[in-house]
Amino acid sequence: MLQKLTGLLTKRPRNAGVAPRDDGARLALPEKLPRHVGIIMDGNGRWAQNRGLPRSAGHAAGTEALRDIIQACDDWGIYALSIYAFSTENWARPKDEVGTLMGLILRYFQSEIDELDAKGAVIRIIGDVDGLPDKQRDVVNRAMERTRDNDGLRLNIALNYGGHAELTRAARRLAARCVAGEMKPEDIAEADVENELYTAGLPPVDLLIRTSGEIRTSNFLPWQAAYAEMVFNPILWPDYNREVFLRDLHEYASRDRRFGGVKKEEGQ
Ligand code: FPP
Repeated sequence: MLQKLTGLLTKRPRNAGVAPRDDGARLALPEKLPRHVGIIMDGNGRWAQNRGLPRSAGHAAGTEALRDIIQACDDWGIYALSIYAFSTENWARPKDEVGTLMGLILRYFQSEIDELDAKGAVIRIIGDVDGLPDKQRDVVNRAMERTRDNDGLRLNIALNYGGHAELTRAARRLAARCVAGEMKPEDIAEADVENELYTAGLPPVDLLIRTSGEIRTSNFLPWQAAYAEMVFNPILWPDYNREVFLRDLHEYASRDRRFGGVKKEEGQ
């Protein structure tokens, strides 16, 4: 089914995708698409537990779902995708689960880099790369270096990421510039803060999706998602796929974004 569906889509068509709905009808890609989608891929553990499998099986299945969503973003011409793969808080998980995740991350970059590069993806790790184990740090640095001049999907992978840590880092960097006499504290503008974030140069998150039914954002892109539309989808991440994603994109398209203002007709 998925293959048939993929066959209907040519590479990076704008607004030309279709996917089946639950009732079997085909759902077209909405006209209004987010430029930047953030995803909190939650529910791997529960997915595995529901099947009597170890949590590692859930993370492995989650990696497959991720592949599908990256391909959908590429097919549908979404500019940027940011995914939460490993938070600064995830180090507190049992040692063997951290080991499993680190192993998956290493294998993911080793096995996917050729295809991601061929698609033209620009990989950016958001998070403290220096705090990763040596092998993971090397493989992600190589992936960033290799894809930096590409012009396709901006793929931000949050590894060892925390929003508070990111903002603290930005504050330190700005403070250092003030101490060096490069700028004055009173001159610090929002754009200066943005330029010190891992996502510098990228548009803000328009749509933030969290799977598994949890209704919180867990320290993911607090600055960048300040005006994001939120979709909390009850589906567990390994079951998420491009058809569900398309429905979430329709949900986004149906929202009235006012950015603190009023509806056009009300403001007239
Ligand atoms: C949350 O589910 C998921 C994670 C902490 C890891 C997400 C990682 C992947 C999808 C795969 C690895 C990513 C890359 C880039 C290779 P959970 O374990 O908290 O699920 P639970 O809430 O049901 O326990």
